[in-house]
Amino acid sequence: MSAATAIVTGASQGIGQATALRLARDFGQLVLVARNREHLERTAAAVQAQGATAHIVDCDLAESTSASQVIAQTLSAFGRLDALLNIAGAVPQIDLFEMTDEQWDAGLALKLHGARRLTIAAWDALRQSQGAVVFTSGNSALFPKAPYAAVGTINAAIVALAKAFSDRGITDGVQVNSVLPGPVMTGRRRSYLERWAPLHDMTAAEAMERFPREAGIARYGQPEEIAELMAFLVSPAARWMTGAMLRMDGGEVKSV
Ligand SMILES: NC(=O)c1ccc[n+]([C@@H]2O[C@H](COP(=O)([O-])OP(=O)(O)OC[C@H]3O[C@@H](n4cnc5c(N)ncnc54)[C@H](OP(=O)(O)O)[C@@H]3O)[C@@H](O)[C@H]2O)c1
Repeated sequence: MSAATAIVTGASQGIGQATALRLARDFGQLVLVARNREHLERTAAAVQAQGATAHIVDCDLAESTSASQVIAQTLSAFGRLDALLNIAGAVPQIDLFEMTDEQWDAGLALKLHGARRLTIAAWDALRQSQGAVVFTSGNSALFPKAPYAAVGTINAAIVALAKAFSDRGITDGVQVNSVLPGPVMTGRRRSYLERWAPLHDMTAAEAMERFPREAGIARYGQPEEIAELMAFLVSPAARWMTGAMLRMDGGEVKSV
């Protein structure tokens, strides 16, 4: 296994955790970032069981000081950085007409500014390694809906931010792409459906079953399926791919 190093944010659960486990096959050293240390320790144990080394940074990425802390610890533990996967996200899923300024700010602080600050803090090390960055957006960037308007709006901003970084990356040798998952069954998706169901006179189980049908797909995606796309984007096979916005969604959006 190579001594290459990847940072995965949101590694305590869901898509981030699945990505960390998948990357443990290709990267010898992984930095796992999220707030919940106990959950990160579980991910680290699974990563280590696959033969990679894991370093945990438990911090709140919405805080402005966290980015420099993550990069300082990465370089001190492993001495290099080859890939940054910005996956952490917890944008409030609240109706456009009910969402407060504070809730908008909280969504932006983590998903947009947390990822932006971390990418800037990582840039010098990525330039040295000619590395890769992946941002996580979502299909809602393409069709924002009023009941969870901030999710779509911030996801659209993430796609634009990734393109701006990829523009600089062309001269600096850093490859930057964004991934747009469709409905993936994670804790975030489950809790959304549990809140949505009673508002529509349904049980959570009925809502779980109905949602894919309404989205026009056969089933939910699994975090491990998105992890495969993440792993491809930071692999040598994707080296000439940059500035791209890649959907993986079971056919929810049909386009080239
Ligand atoms: N699931 C889907 O259907 C879907 C669809 C489209 C896009 N996405 C995007 O995919 C990404 C992962 O989603 P998921 O479904 O896997 O969600 P999840 O299971 O809720 O995981 C979210 C991750 O973000 C971390 N996180 C949350 N707040 C944080 C903070 N302030 N600082 C640091 N880490 C924080 C969480 O860890 P801690 O709680 O330990 O901090 C957790 O590891 C998100 O950006 C989401 O918007 C998901």
